Amino acid sequence: MTDARDNTLAASVGTPSRLPAGRERFVAIASGKGGVGKTWLAITLTHALARMGLKALLFDGDLGLANVDIQLGLMPKRDLGAVLDGAIGLSGAAMPYRPGGFDVIAGRSGSGALANLAPQRVTELRASLNAVSGDYDRVLLDLGAGIDRNVCQLAQSVGTTLVVTNEEPTSLTDAYALIKILKSSAPEHDIRIIVNMATTPRDGAQTYSTLLKACDSFLGCKPPLAGVVRRDAQVREAIRAQAPILNRSPSCDAARDVEGIAASLFGTGEHGDAS
Ligand SMILES: Nc1ncnc2c1ncn2[C@@H]1O[C@H](COP(=O)(O)OP(=O)(O)OP(=O)(O)O)[C@@H](O)[C@H]1O
Ligand SMILES: [Mg+2]
Repeated sequence: MTDARDNTLAASVGTPSRLPAGRERFVAIASGKGGVGKTWLAITLTHALARMGLKALLFDGDLGLANVDIQLGLMPKRDLGAVLDGAIGLSGAAMPYRPGGFDVIAGRSGSGALANLAPQRVTELRASLNAVSGDYDRVLLDLGAGIDRNVCQLAQSVGTTLVVTNEEPTSLTDAYALIKILKSSAPEHDIRIIVNMATTPRDGAQTYSTLLKACDSFLGCKPPLAGVVRRDAQVREAIRAQAPILNRSPSCDAARDVEGIAASLFGTGEHGDAS
């Protein structure tokens, strides 16, 4: 539950705003530290976009340790591995995820070839994704943890990167490190913060304030808050059941928080129109 103090603090850290026109087609979800909920958020945001009536594609860009398919219980016959083997084109790897109403391009977990992809191959893959994106309103990229070359290259190739952190100092430090690297090579890159697994909205806003202060003081940038997602036992239950939370528990706290973020970043109404 949000109380008056939460609203005051939320106002002081800024209201999430819609992505600038032209930046909303490709959005990456990245983190620095692993295990902060990127894959679950990427799935749930994509699902929320589909529920808003948008044609959405989720690309598993965690090249070495893909697990979008695991969280969704998919058994992909065609994946990124087959694309890189030259067996199929990227559009042939897009498969419908019917329970969510969106499409998925699955990765191949444990593939050394994908994990160690040369920069030129990543550029080619990104160009193919650009071509495929013509069929979609929005494309979300679930990236791997860390700040390695592939993560940064993919993040910098999109309009907006949502950097996910939780309340732990290590997660905040790693989010800061990722922002520093992205900003140092592309100062104009649009970065938004999502605080996941927050104990309360107020705690989440405070975590964001801490990160914002560090970015402002040492990097000279103020990445806006995209939103706070509360810690919620339903998330683990949904992942265990390999079912999307917006189908399984649509009214739980975490599901509502993600739908709110999707609406404010991509939606209609007071934040603009979804075209
Ligand atoms: N809002 C939340 N509330 C409770 N638990 C959560 C929440 N978000 C994520 N989790 C838990 O965090 C775990 C890790 O989530 P996920 O695999 O999506 O993280 P990740 O950042 O993609 O990890 P990796 O860096 O390994 O790719 C999930 O198994 C889930 O149990
Ligand atoms: Mg992941």
